[in-house]
Amino acid sequence: MSEGTSELVDRLEAARRDAVDKISSAPGLAGLEEVRHQVFGRKAPLAQTRQGLRDLDESARKDFGRRLNEVQAELERAYEDRKAEFEARELEHRWERERVDVTLPGVASPVGSIHPLTRTMWEIIDIFIGLGYRVADGPEIELTSYLFDALNTPPEHPARSELDTYYVKGHLYEVALRTETSPIQIRTMEAQEPPVYVLCPGRVYRRETEDATHTAQFSQIEGLAVDEGITMGDLKGTLQHLARELFGRDLEVRLRPSFFPFTEPSAELDVLCFSCKGAGCRICKNEGWIELLGCGMVDPFLLDYVGYDSERYTGFAFGIGLERAAALAHDVRDIRAFYDNDVRFLAQFGGML
Ligand code: DAH
Repeated sequence: MSEGTSELVDRLEAARRDAVDKISSAPGLAGLEEVRHQVFGRKAPLAQTRQGLRDLDESARKDFGRRLNEVQAELERAYEDRKAEFEARELEHRWERERVDVTLPGVASPVGSIHPLTRTMWEIIDIFIGLGYRVADGPEIELTSYLFDALNTPPEHPARSELDTYYVKGHLYEVALRTETSPIQIRTMEAQEPPVYVLCPGRVYRRETEDATHTAQFSQIEGLAVDEGITMGDLKGTLQHLARELFGRDLEVRLRPSFFPFTEPSAELDVLCFSCKGAGCRICKNEGWIELLGCGMVDPFLLDYVGYDSERYTGFAFGIGLERAAALAHDVRDIRAFYDNDVRFLAQFGGML
């Protein structure tokens, strides 16, 4: 071994020892990263001894080169081992810090439910879809020509009064928040030829003093059937089906004479009290019967108004108050509760459908 070679070997050994020492005494991952530069960097002793290679003759270069590579590999291994050790320790600390006791009871996320009014509306819609009806829609801000004139409501009718109806500013007696869903009857018939079988749910507005059974905004579902040969028997049969689906299979219904400008004859439909079966109780206010909706045979005035042949076609219509129906079905004594959005109230109506 020449003079130069042995000096290089000594330097390499010194560099190796120093590097092993540095790697094993690095205090943590950050310190080890520092050491990596000191040991493997371009100006590190290891790199410098490698530069000495070029001054050696060929056989010495070969020997020393191999030795250099061995040292390089040894140090890299030492470095990787140390790094893995730190990482394992860090992971262990993290597990300790973030430890979860899976045996503890969890915190359940609250699950929403379908609003009882929506649910009741869907139930009613389903019943009529089953009978072949389709759902129709109309505007909540309505022209009085549709809301009153087309519905045969006389000029002096109290419903037209500002005291009963919200008019749109600047359009008094011309444009109003609809007070009932009945104008959708006209809009539907104008848009299509008979036969018509539609159900029209929607919000309506009335100037009311609010109490347990009245709100200034509520919802109705309008029904309309126009075809050849429709009779009051069809009206009663259809509405009996509705009442029984909603309140109980065996319940009788009865029609009581009434008056609406757009039906002739007009009636109220009562259903036998589902709670006391006619004996009289709190729910039916000791009547034995519960008033469910207004209905009647479509007044030929409406059919003529929309250009239907009132000699050939007849029809029936009805309008049911959604809040009232839902309150009856669920024994809710104050319909304002439907709009308070108190989850303690809403949660009683169960989970998702
Ligand atoms: N629109 C009526 C109301 O708000 C309810 C009604 C009664 C609708 C008879 C109808 C009907 O279609 O034929 O009180």
